[in-house]
Amino acid sequence: MKILFVSPDPRPERWINLLEAALPQAEWIVWHPELPCQEADYALVWQPPEILFKKEPQLKAIFNLGAGVDALLKLSKLPKSLPIYRLEDAGMSAQMAEYLIHQVAEITRVMPVYRQQQQDKVWRMQSPCRRHEWPIGFLGMGQIAQKAAKAFSLLEYPVAGWSRSEKRIEGIDSYYGDDQITKFVQRSRILINTLPLTSQTQGFLNQSLFDQLPEKSIVINVGRGQHLNEMDLLNALEYGRVSHAILDVFSEEPLPKTHPFWNHPKITLTPHISAPTLRDETVKQIAEKIQKLASGEVISGQVDRNRGY
Ligand code: GLV
Repeated sequence: MKILFVSPDPRPERWINLLEAALPQAEWIVWHPELPCQEADYALVWQPPEILFKKEPQLKAIFNLGAGVDALLKLSKLPKSLPIYRLEDAGMSAQMAEYLIHQVAEITRVMPVYRQQQQDKVWRMQSPCRRHEWPIGFLGMGQIAQKAAKAFSLLEYPVAGWSRSEKRIEGIDSYYGDDQITKFVQRSRILINTLPLTSQTQGFLNQSLFDQLPEKSIVINVGRGQHLNEMDLLNALEYGRVSHAILDVFSEEPLPKTHPFWNHPKITLTPHISAPTLRDETVKQIAEKIQKLASGEVISGQVDRNRGY
């Protein structure tokens, strides 16, 4: 069995060592565009170039080294019938929950004020957080969002999720479908976007949505940069209902140095680190899946090409 590793990672040997240990019966190849056809069975990919699919038309399946497959599905040479599997959790949901709790607590527990007080040697208690004033809403209720939603619910914040179809999760109010989006947004003072990027969700975070939020809302984007209309956000921060935005993803990454988001006083930004792919967990998950697939078993995590995730 031949398997390609296709990634812009500058140190692919860190992956190959683990992959060889997890699946020693396979021949692992670090692919680059100059290689002739390897007749490979499978490929592990992150943002692969189009030419991979021209050179290796016999691939039986590919494994995406992340949760989001938007970059992959944009490739026109990606064969329509090629099965794609994406990472399922693989350590991402705990990291995401932690990132979101950190960012939300910064605001609800007024941490910037306490940091300033420390600078000024001021010992003063600010008003405690009243959780009912901070209803949290998750746009998208996939595996990664669910862990964070449950964590916030345990911390006794009011939590709701909106998804295409109804999701019944203890402690989380479920909203679904186009009919319920307005009601959902109107109750979500902290709006967290975890949607997959598809043609339907591109530009979802826009003026008309921001206008429906409660006053003094917080918008957090950990989905994809293309979900957000950047001008609309800047407007909503200036004149509208959004008082702060926390952004981990951008339509252009790295974010250009001249971008107005960098030094905006009402924007906190991080460089796409909310839930990075973890090598150990990823290798374990993919090695198990390849073994099952090779022995004819059905495996989970297959991308629905019509749905786009
Ligand atoms: C990260 O953005 C991922 O899609 O896993």
